[in-house]
Amino acid sequence: MINKCLFPVAGYGTRFLPATKSMPKEMLPILDKPLVQYGVEEAAEAGLHDIGFVTGRGKRAIEDHFDVSYELEHQIAGTGKEKSLEGIRALINACTFSYTRQINMRGLGDAILKGEAVVGDEPFAVVLADDLCIGEERGVLAQMVGLYNQYRCSIVAIEAVPEDQTSSYGVIDGEKISDSLVRVTNMVEKPAPEDAPTNLAIIGRYILTPDIFDILRNTEPGKNGEIQLTDALMHQANSGCVMAYKFAGRRFDCGSVAGYVEATNYFYENVFDEHP
Ligand code: G1P
Repeated sequence: MINKCLFPVAGYGTRFLPATKSMPKEMLPILDKPLVQYGVEEAAEAGLHDIGFVTGRGKRAIEDHFDVSYELEHQIAGTGKEKSLEGIRALINACTFSYTRQINMRGLGDAILKGEAVVGDEPFAVVLADDLCIGEERGVLAQMVGLYNQYRCSIVAIEAVPEDQTSSYGVIDGEKISDSLVRVTNMVEKPAPEDAPTNLAIIGRYILTPDIFDILRNTEPGKNGEIQLTDALMHQANSGCVMAYKFAGRRFDCGSVAGYVEATNYFYENVFDEHP
């Protein structure tokens, strides 16, 4: 069983400055809900109710969001505005939240390793909240948990991206198992288009087996001098198995202004449930 979902949220969000100068990028709203809440809802839908955050300086707003605001609740009690808080209240009741800090920004691999303190020795999911995903029929994490129960190894979500964009992603190659599943044989972090083995990019949804922590402890800094999760996953692929899954659904790169606007428009037109 997987119960835990880790959210690395210590990053600076430099692509969104100045908006993210004093506000966590994960708190940027798509319409009336912050990005991180969409991620936690996706985790809860997949049955993952133990939520862990690897946080950092300047990210207090995230902790406050997943808590009760007594003054606000008191102020709006008995008014129509209470309805606006129903979703987040239900989420807070359904989940537990744990926090640990990444002191130095040494890459996604380092952030995941810091998460060991809240994950322990169990398989777990990872959500990068600036990748906002909508699944077909069920959420992307729920789809991946189903696959984990079948294969019992680490799984990364992938998507075909335009070839000139490979340098923004971890890129995989492998042996086709089915139309939506590839057994990974190669993985490169942010390759230039001419060095990319394919155009199949890792997006911010993972299921990781706990041996990843020991591997990360022994992983040398890679691309951009950072400890790369991609390198540790390549080690798992070489010594065991890693699956890459073309999820059914759509992803918006809300770490970029263009993707953020696209998500906002999509959600306004297709998902938005306007409060009275
Ligand atoms: C990280 C990973 C990368 C992955 C991407 C997905 O990069 O290192 O392999 O493709 O997330 O969003 P980042 O976007 O944090 O630079």
